Amino acid sequence: MRNEMQIQFSALSQNESFARVTVAAFIAQLDPTMDELTEIKTVVSEAVTNSIIHGYNGNPAGLVYISVAIEDGFVEIIIRDEGVGISDIEEARQPLFTTKPELERSGMGFTIMENFMDEIEVESQPSLGTIIRLKKHLAIKKALCN
Ligand SMILES: Nc1ncnc2c1ncn2[C@@H]1O[C@H](COP(=O)(O)OP(=O)(O)O)[C@@H](O)[C@H]1O
Ligand SMILES: [Mg+2]
Repeated sequence: MRNEMQIQFSALSQNESFARVTVAAFIAQLDPTMDELTEIKTVVSEAVTNSIIHGYNGNPAGLVYISVAIEDGFVEIIIRDEGVGISDIEEARQPLFTTKPELERSGMGFTIMENFMDEIEVESQPSLGTIIRLKKHLAIKKALCN
């Protein structure tokens, strides 16, 4: 059975932990491994941080939207903002690429999302915003199958 949830919150850095903990709590019903849960929390943090610092340039009037769907060991997370958008998505996804070097950002956010999830889709338009779709199949627990 498919099970979905949505949240939206102000683009404030103190909401990053709210977002990662909330998504993790929802996904906990699928009985993920500790590694899977850590990976999903890290990925949510990276995408939400990007919406806050890049999408909205730290303007707390912006809203970040997250929706999560789970079904039979499968997780889909969509993180969306209505911020400045990305003009060159391919360039933005390159390891170490960042438009904010002064913040000592690592430029590894997209690379981390790619490595920790099975699928990532980035849709973005300058001045309209950015949508990140992330998918992951969780490991099947042998003990539960017997
Ligand atoms: N939600 C977003 N809105 C606008 N630009 C973004 C967004 N997410 C990512 N970007 C752009 O993609 C670049 C790379 O992102 P990322 O790999 O997370 O590295 P970093 O956040 O360290 O710069 C950012 O520097 C920024 O230019
Ligand atoms: Mg980032």
